[in-house]
Amino acid sequence: QKAQIGVTGLATMGRNLARNLARRGHTVAVHNRTAARTKALVEEFGHEGTFVPAETAEEFVAALERPRRLVVMVKAGAATDAVIDEFAPLLEPGDMIVDGGNAHFADTRRREAALRERGVHFVGAGISGGEEGALNGPSIMPGGPAESYEALGPLLESIAANVDGVPCVTHIGPDGAGHFVKMVHNGIEYADMQLIAESYDLLRHAAGLSPAEIAEVFRTWNTGRLESYLIEITAEVLAHTDAATGEPFVDVVLDRAEQKGTGRWTVQTALDLGVPVGGIAEAVFARSVSGHADLREAARDLPGPAREATKDAAFADAVERALYASKIVAYAQGFHQIQAASAEYGWDVDLGAVATIWRGGCIIRARFLDRIRAAYEADPRTVTLLTDGYFAEALAEAQDAWRGVVATAARLGIPTPGFSSALAYYDSLRAERLPAALTQGQRDFFGAHTYRRVDREGAFHTLWSDGRREVEA
Ligand code: 6PG
Repeated sequence: QKAQIGVTGLATMGRNLARNLARRGHTVAVHNRTAARTKALVEEFGHEGTFVPAETAEEFVAALERPRRLVVMVKAGAATDAVIDEFAPLLEPGDMIVDGGNAHFADTRRREAALRERGVHFVGAGISGGEEGALNGPSIMPGGPAESYEALGPLLESIAANVDGVPCVTHIGPDGAGHFVKMVHNGIEYADMQLIAESYDLLRHAAGLSPAEIAEVFRTWNTGRLESYLIEITAEVLAHTDAATGEPFVDVVLDRAEQKGTGRWTVQTALDLGVPVGGIAEAVFARSVSGHADLREAARDLPGPAREATKDAAFADAVERALYASKIVAYAQGFHQIQAASAEYGWDVDLGAVATIWRGGCIIRARFLDRIRAAYEADPRTVTLLTDGYFAEALAEAQDAWRGVVATAARLGIPTPGFSSALAYYDSLRAERLPAALTQGQRDFFGAHTYRRVDREGAFHTLWSDGRREVEA
């Protein structure tokens, strides 16, 4: 019996994905560079479905029915290229390689173009949901040629998470579109996590609540509009007590956040596209600041304000509003970035469909995503989510509290880069006039960089050292 699909790379994610496929009744060929892992998988989980273990690349390819669907679950980067180089010569036109790792979309574009020459479909597929998601239903963001989805889509739909009968997978767009969208998912993930972290910090140090009390606050929030996986696990982490010391777990963990790079890529790419994603950038930088032990050590004794916890019951409510408003901004920025890339690369990404498949399975899954889906459904040409009816109203209702929280944070010396930059973005977009006019004047002054006028077409330059006459540039 030939396998419908094959998975090579059987570390946690690959193994769980293979098991998920087998549990859904598909015959799954499995392969790993070191055969011991393949053997272990079949021994441990063989009873869950039908696996076809393969020791060599040739055996693996021969085990697959045509068109061959070969899923690569190895570390992004050189390992992915090595696997492609190994398998591509064994494949025939119409076969496909699906890269389920967190690849950089530029690599995916390069690989797709190279394999297209051989008639092999290359599908860069973002997969979110961690180990648990891979096993029980992830959110899947496949890119690559549209026709590849005909042979691949039904299989992916059978293993993806499902919300209201809708599977959390859709063909995102050509070449690198899937991995791009997964990258932005992770950027938003960083922003969301940072905003939650700031909320915790404020509740702890401005409101004087204990981690256990804050866990309760998050539990309550998770029954409302903030309901999401990240809020849910935040309550779990905060409620956890360290077994060794009896201290709150959050107090015994070293406060240096690490990153594997997808958040950084999001910001690097946003800079290239000229898309302002301050909320995501601040989240990446916040991790970076936390990791700079030397900087923090050197600055430890700089003076701060006298701190006084408020113990004000209404404060938690204000933080909820600030969090919700900042979250709207972070998602608006992420969707703007996808929109810009889609235009730049001609992907024609359906933003509403992206929101739809993020409702379940992925790390940022949340009730909130259904609002974004609805916003794009109501108007697919939405310029920014901030002005969508529902979100605009939520921002209007939250803004006073949001300002109050940012002001309190500044007064107490509690860093809130996420909240602050989100508010600055909101105020920048609504500003009638920005001081960018002054920036233009300075540029013209020192570098004759020219400016445009509000009242006339054309580019102008003022002869700053020659009577300040204005000339047309
Ligand atoms: C997911 C996650 C996953 C991974 C992150 C973590 O969607 O399932 O985003 O891809 O856990 O990349 O990234 P950092 O190590 O950079 O925090």
